[in-house]
Amino acid sequence: MIFRMDQLLSSLSMGLDAVEGELLGATTNHGKRISILAIMMGRHLGWNDDDLIGVAGCALMHDNALTEYILSERPEGAHAMDHGAHCLIGEENVLYFPFPSDVRGFVKYHHEYMDKSGPFKMDAAKTPLGAQIIAAADDVDARYHLQQLSPASLPDLRSFISSKRGSYYTCLAADALLAVLDEDLLLSLRDKQVDNTFGQKMPKWVVNMPAVDLMNIAKVVASITDYKSQYTARHSLQIAYRAYWMGLYYGFSREQCAKIYLAASFHDIGKLLIPAAILEKPGKLTEEEFAIIQKHAFWSYAMLKDIEGFEEICRWAVTHHRKLNGKGYPQLPQCYLDMDFTSRLIACIDIYQALRETRPYHRGRSHEETIRIMGWMASHGEIDSQITEDIDRVMVLFKDSQMPGPEEADAHFGLSSQSAGKLPYPGMAFRPAGS
Ligand SMILES: [Fe+2]
Ligand SMILES: [Fe+2]
Ligand SMILES: [Fe+2]
Ligand SMILES: [Fe+2]
Repeated sequence: MIFRMDQLLSSLSMGLDAVEGELLGATTNHGKRISILAIMMGRHLGWNDDDLIGVAGCALMHDNALTEYILSERPEGAHAMDHGAHCLIGEENVLYFPFPSDVRGFVKYHHEYMDKSGPFKMDAAKTPLGAQIIAAADDVDARYHLQQLSPASLPDLRSFISSKRGSYYTCLAADALLAVLDEDLLLSLRDKQVDNTFGQKMPKWVVNMPAVDLMNIAKVVASITDYKSQYTARHSLQIAYRAYWMGLYYGFSREQCAKIYLAASFHDIGKLLIPAAILEKPGKLTEEEFAIIQKHAFWSYAMLKDIEGFEEICRWAVTHHRKLNGKGYPQLPQCYLDMDFTSRLIACIDIYQALRETRPYHRGRSHEETIRIMGWMASHGEIDSQITEDIDRVMVLFKDSQMPGPEEADAHFGLSSQSAGKLPYPGMAFRPAGS
């Protein structure tokens, strides 16, 4: 498939910035702002578009591991956090992305400075230049809140950067920052302008690769979303796994199943913009809180709708709370409302997974009870009854365990990674595990 990776990263950074703002009190649009600064600094240093894509992409994603790290290891909050963990996990995540240039170390070392005060106690001058650029831009934005800094304060900021040149920021990074940070650039970083500025400065990054090879990236995105709340810590990933199994069950090609896997991984990406306090609230939600949670489906739509090449994936992902009888949410343009087979499938799997999970307000239900509830919904015209039956047939085999991933699914259906192909009879290729 061919799509715009720069647009996908930009959407993802919208969610990451919201998380960073919520958990760390970071400024709005922080990642995008760092990315613009990094592009300008790289351009000043004479970098080509491939190099600029590398530093800009890593700048957008520099704190991608915050949700995972905070919720899994530091539930008491991020303030006393050991920066090293989010640098390492973040680096690991970023290296799944097919950057056109070498970005190793850019995320890992984004908190290293010349005084060796960073988590790895590195002399920043010995880290890759991309890391030096991101570290300087990140630190300056965190200290000076560039989205609202008055141009009158620019001389003060510039003398601060000069004073730290060679002692905190590396000389190369400080000089590049000083060379590009003028009043025009500062004003273009305001919240109202920042999307526009990013669109203008970021080189186009078109990726052409099979969906199968994008599944690792989808997994990273699913994990970032899932770690937003401990109650949904494997929600998107389990849905992606279930969707992949169901796709193979129906006889779709591996490539087609991989696209469904991508859509399932992205379906709740809008949850990144919903406050964790509401997602995790024990007990019943107020009407107002419920409306805020429902808004996540709209945010998923807002984040995915403009990514060129993602039209099908967006369609399948964002209708997961729509009902066949016209009820549900969010409000969407007419062309989305006629839910095709894959949209119906993802909607059903989302309901199946949600009912089986323990949430603050209910315990996880058994497979049988879940299918009973879905049967009722199907009989009331809300969801697809045939898909509900098929889910029952397939998922009953894993009712007491976590859903195995795509590799197990491939093996189960007799596919090797090379033999992506259509199974001859949709639905007929299924055989119970172990037979
Ligand atoms: Fe960081
Ligand atoms: Fe940051
Ligand atoms: Fe959802
Ligand atoms: Fe969901």
